[in-house]
Amino acid sequence: MISLKGICKHYYMGEVVINALDGIDLSIERGEFISIMGPSGSGKSTLLNILGVLDQPTEGTYLLEDVDITDLGDRELARIRNRHFGFIFQSYNLFPELSALENVMVPLAYAGRPKSERIKRAKELLKMVDMSHRLKHFPNQLSGGEQQRVAIARALANQPTLLLADEPTGNLASDQSEEIMQLLCKLNQQGTTIVIVTHDPHIGSFGRRLIRLQDGRIISDAPIEQSRQDERRLGT
Ligand SMILES: Nc1ncnc2c1ncn2[C@@H]1O[C@H](COP(=O)(O)OP(=O)(O)OP(=O)(O)O)[C@@H](O)[C@H]1O
Ligand SMILES: [Mg+2]
Repeated sequence: MISLKGICKHYYMGEVVINALDGIDLSIERGEFISIMGPSGSGKSTLLNILGVLDQPTEGTYLLEDVDITDLGDRELARIRNRHFGFIFQSYNLFPELSALENVMVPLAYAGRPKSERIKRAKELLKMVDMSHRLKHFPNQLSGGEQQRVAIARALANQPTLLLADEPTGNLASDQSEEIMQLLCKLNQQGTTIVIVTHDPHIGSFGRRLIRLQDGRIISDAPIEQSRQDERRLGT
């Protein structure tokens, strides 16, 4: 579904070159649940942002469903982003002046859906993340875990090809983190392809494939032991 070849991201700071990513080769298949781990500064967020075309590489090739999207312009990339990617961030990034329902309706408006359909679909999405009882609440009236569940509903609104999450539980207490990860597992079992960045090994162990980054390179890429995963999924 996605294939990155020889991806580099260099930043030029005067005389100094920072190799945030340094020759990444990575293929992602439909239905995968990938955890990306590595020390602070190893390039995790940079890689996630390039995967979600929020950022462009300085070298390398990006194939999305066999189409080379490496050199597309901003407008085309924005279209691809809206159509193919859903994002979840550590800080939830909900619109503070909009209710939970209205937040989930936003991407549906971008996709040009009529209002009655937006309301219906947003309610379905919020039901899926167990937030039907908080439709009219504003973000500041919700707990962190509840805000993240609304953010997940919003990220899924246009049925993204890939859901990308950068430290989605970074601001949550452990029981709420657990709930969010159980929800992501459920969504993956229902077919959503997920890539999550985390520095927390417990959170990372919810994935099925673990990629470790160091100094902008992949130092390991392997399936996560199934027994561990079943434990996670059963919440033990
Ligand atoms: N805009 C920028 N200009 C210059 N250097 C940058 C820029 N963005 C990131 N970097 C550098 O690139 C490297 C990778 O950054 P990145 O944010 O991807 O790390 P990370 O693995 O997500 O770290 P963390 O776990 O702390 O979030 C870091 O050394 C960072 O300082
Ligand atoms: Mg980061």
